[in-house]
Amino acid sequence: LNKIKIVGLGPGNKNYILPAALSAVNESDIIIAGKRNLAGLDTSGKRIIEVRNNLLEISDFIKMNMEHYRIAVAVSGDPGFYSMLGFLKNHFNRDEMEVIPGISSFQYMFCKLGIPWENFFPASVHGRDCNVAGITRMNKNVFFLTDTKFTCKKIAAILYESGMGEKMIYAGNNLSYKDEIIVSDKAGIFKDKDFDFENAVTVVCDE
Ligand SMILES: C[S@@+](CC[C@H](N)C(=O)[O-])C[C@H]1O[C@@H](n2cnc3c(N)ncnc32)[C@H](O)[C@@H]1O
Repeated sequence: LNKIKIVGLGPGNKNYILPAALSAVNESDIIIAGKRNLAGLDTSGKRIIEVRNNLLEISDFIKMNMEHYRIAVAVSGDPGFYSMLGFLKNHFNRDEMEVIPGISSFQYMFCKLGIPWENFFPASVHGRDCNVAGITRMNKNVFFLTDTKFTCKKIAAILYESGMGEKMIYAGNNLSYKDEIIVSDKAGIFKDKDFDFENAVTVVCDE
């Protein structure tokens, strides 16, 4: 029986994809992935299903096709950290799936900063509600996945308004890509920057 391969692609740059992940994608007949993740893959000769707001359709599609086709679901970073794996594991048995790790955006970010991450609390504001001030007050060191609506500047503003304007913010946008940029400042200053990031992680700590 074919297993569904759930493959972590790393932060984006091909040099950061594990060989095992690349093989899983190359050996598949069908690739299921979001637009940004598809952009970096060689998809010639493969059927492509784009992930949008269609998760239920996708799980039905997989159920109907997994017997006859090798299917890879490609996600950014590591599948174990805020990916479609959370959804898929509720629709498929564990022995129907093979999950292949990737380098998470936050692993990459912490390496770039030269800061160990074991004392940081992992959080996400990506497409969800999140009590930024409460989590930061309780955990001191936090990193957030952000998105186009809930950005690093918004996190900085919330911290400032909650009396935590002295916290340091490190924000990394398009990590591992050619236009990667990492910017840092105290929350009270960061909130007024004249730019904002769309594909970023935000690290919050005391120094
Ligand atoms: C659905 S989550 C996936 C997280 C992913 N599983 C991981 O381990 O990095 C998407 C979020 O990951 C972060 N992200 C993914 N790739 C990134 C990159 N190259 N640079 C900065 N942030 C990235 C952004 O916060 C983005 O909104």
